[in-house]
Amino acid sequence: MTRSLPYADMDKILSLSKRRGFVFQSSEIYGGLGSTWDYGPLGVELKRHVKEAWWRSVVLERDDMVGLDAAILMHPQAWVASGHVENFSDPMVECRDCNQRFRQDHLMDLVHRSLWWLSLRADLGPPFASSGRRHTSTSLECADTIEKWIAKAGKDLGPNLALVQDPHFIIPLVVSAVMELAEVDNPYTFDDYLTKIISAIGRGSIPCPGDHCGGNLTDPRRFNLMFRTFMGPVEDTASEVFLRPETAQGIFVNFSNVVTASRKKLPFGIAQVGKSFRNEITPGNFTFRTREFEQMEVEYFVKPGDDEKWLDQWVQDRLDWYVSYGIRRENLRLRRHASDELAHYAKDCYDIEYRFPWGWAELEGIADRTDYDLRQHAQTSGQDLTYFDDESQSRYYPYVVEPSGGLDRGVLAFWLDSYDEEPDGNTVRVVLRLHRKLAPVTVAVLPLSRNARLAPAAQEVHAQLRRHFTVQYDDAQSIGRRYRRQDEIGTPYCVTVDFDSLDDHRVTIRDRDTMHQIRIPIADLVGILRDKIDHGW
Ligand code: GAP
Repeated sequence: MTRSLPYADMDKILSLSKRRGFVFQSSEIYGGLGSTWDYGPLGVELKRHVKEAWWRSVVLERDDMVGLDAAILMHPQAWVASGHVENFSDPMVECRDCNQRFRQDHLMDLVHRSLWWLSLRADLGPPFASSGRRHTSTSLECADTIEKWIAKAGKDLGPNLALVQDPHFIIPLVVSAVMELAEVDNPYTFDDYLTKIISAIGRGSIPCPGDHCGGNLTDPRRFNLMFRTFMGPVEDTASEVFLRPETAQGIFVNFSNVVTASRKKLPFGIAQVGKSFRNEITPGNFTFRTREFEQMEVEYFVKPGDDEKWLDQWVQDRLDWYVSYGIRRENLRLRRHASDELAHYAKDCYDIEYRFPWGWAELEGIADRTDYDLRQHAQTSGQDLTYFDDESQSRYYPYVVEPSGGLDRGVLAFWLDSYDEEPDGNTVRVVLRLHRKLAPVTVAVLPLSRNARLAPAAQEVHAQLRRHFTVQYDDAQSIGRRYRRQDEIGTPYCVTVDFDSLDDHRVTIRDRDTMHQIRIPIADLVGILRDKIDHGW
């Protein structure tokens, strides 16, 4: 199915979200709690379906995987062993004037983005003219100037800029933005910060980006991201525990339990879905970065030496999974971590990134964690966490490949990617083209009207279907409006019960994407719907 909208639109998703009950601001009646969100009646079903699709693919449909549901609170020593007490921190700078804290990498990102804007504003001439001259070149000249800028100043000043890293994609966007700016008489004042940036680059330092501040920033200091709480009635360091920042450690500490109980042989993996908590300094972008979120993690244990092969395999499998559930391939990309970017436990890592409305960002990371975690836990706990290999009759620490996805980010990406609008007469049909198995409501049962004769038959169909699928019964307003309401929340199939149904015991199924309708016997309804859900219309 080709879609009319190539990219997701955050504003449209946000407006749909509250109106239809996907996601609400948490504690809204108290003014909300920053960057925390509650999934409403439709959001919770969408999330549940994403979780189920993941579980099916990584556990139920494989012989080499088992599941686990470990506690959020773990022995504090587990976090010492894992390295999180020492290493799970972000370098932060603090403003000496306004005392606000900023993540250093975000600050650098801000600088880079500002440079990008500057390059537009300054007619793309290196270094950066600050005059804000209006652009007068043709688009070809403009593209040529940008290419030259990337080759010279860009590589040094903004090596991480999307413009520098991905010129083939970004250059046309920059060119069209410049052309647009040239056409409308836009005063185009990016904010005050730009001017500060120009002088900061000159001075070799960056000023505070806080509102109306521009003060001096401290050198970066590390700030641990784990939430702490106390176990039991006494609040002292002996009773201090952490809310887990990743579900992975619950799997590592149970490695021997699972091997003994499940008799799994290498290679095999353990999967887990659950909440994680991070005291993020700069949460934001709706449910993309929050302090409480859900992860879907696999720890896949392999023979040392087989790790690189399995890393490639998992990267491909996970990428294919997102595509198989409807995310357009062109909106996904792989990014390998640079060596200075790797987490303290990783030897190699690939991010699967999605083209979010604010740019490419991580959806899932697939890391080669080597034998780091098992060794660390063995050393700290004094327990033997090696694996006995029947074939070689030897004991060793398995290596671990870890596909680690964010459930909330996955939900957001599926949702954004499915949003579509198509002209329908004088109006626009909004349709979420969610995969049939992910849509919050799979089947809607719609009696043609509220006529008292139709209701019992429609309710009987509803009762029959709800035993098999996630079903919604809707009899309010005209049938046309009800179809639109279901399209807007992504319901793949609507079943309409009309007056003929009372005599011929047949109902109409309507497909969301093609809007085709077929009339079938009620007796065959479950089987036909199941077939369509599995294989499409
Ligand atoms: N066990 C490895 C690990 O936790 P990570 O890259 O820090 O690796 C894995 O996190 C995934 O968890 C990310 O790709 C992202 O989807 C999700 N995630 C991480 N921090 C998040 C946050 N603050 N809010 C929402 N999702 C987050």
